[in-house]
Amino acid sequence: MPWELAQGAPGKEVWMGSANLDPVSRSYPAQYVSSWTMKYGTPVTIRPIRPEDEPLMVNFHKTLSDRTVYLRYFSSLSLSRRTAHERLFRICTCDYQTEIVLVAEHRNPQTAESQILGVARLNKLATNNEAEVAGLVSDQYQHQGLGSELLRQLIKVAQEEKLSCLRAEMLRDNFPIQIIFKRLGFRLRLLGDSASVQAILDL
Ligand SMILES: CC(C)(COP(=O)(O)OP(=O)(O)OC[C@H]1O[C@@H](n2cnc3c(N)ncnc32)[C@H](O)[C@@H]1OP(=O)(O)O)[C@@H](O)C(=O)NCCC(=O)NCCS
Repeated sequence: MPWELAQGAPGKEVWMGSANLDPVSRSYPAQYVSSWTMKYGTPVTIRPIRPEDEPLMVNFHKTLSDRTVYLRYFSSLSLSRRTAHERLFRICTCDYQTEIVLVAEHRNPQTAESQILGVARLNKLATNNEAEVAGLVSDQYQHQGLGSELLRQLIKVAQEEKLSCLRAEMLRDNFPIQIIFKRLGFRLRLLGDSASVQAILDL
């Protein structure tokens, strides 16, 4: 399966999709819902994704610049591929057992319309008690602390899930995310291909 379809980082067992690891889904993990206010006052609810989020996810992907997409997926994944129903369906119906996707939702008080401003995911690896994490924030809402907060919440999830280690992979020239991971306590190491960097957090 091409790596981008499963949205993980390249080279990991997790790509084949969480359903292959454990077919038993668990109920909605409401304990991972939190409220947070962005730098300029925009309130968001950070919560595990739900099946009915698919249209919101389509709109979210429309807000991403080519650069943002490249930094996240290590390639220029087209909008049509990112928003393909099969792909978003799989993400929105994650089992909450081996995979937890958090979205940051803002509800416009005037129109009551919801918008997803950022997404972060945690995929447990098949072979050990570790997980891989990644984050993505809508261009218009970057630099307001949301990426950091989403990852902070994922660390809490990982602690609750009694994981022993979190990992993330990013391009070597993706300095913003390296700064964020360092601030959150991850250690960084250059990978063999020298094009990417791995962030590791022992829990
Ligand atoms: C990385 C990403 C998730 C960060 O989201 P964000 O909401 O902008 O992050 P934050 O606002 O929490 O930024 C935290 C810090 O990172 C640094 N930072 C963020 N964006 C930066 C940029 N473009 N240039 C330099 N530093 C940046 C800053 O130090 C910032 O802190 P400050 O604003 O207090 O100075 C977002 O930029 C994104 O979606 N990037 C593309 C996808 C990606 O790279 N994902 C990571 C793969 S694991």
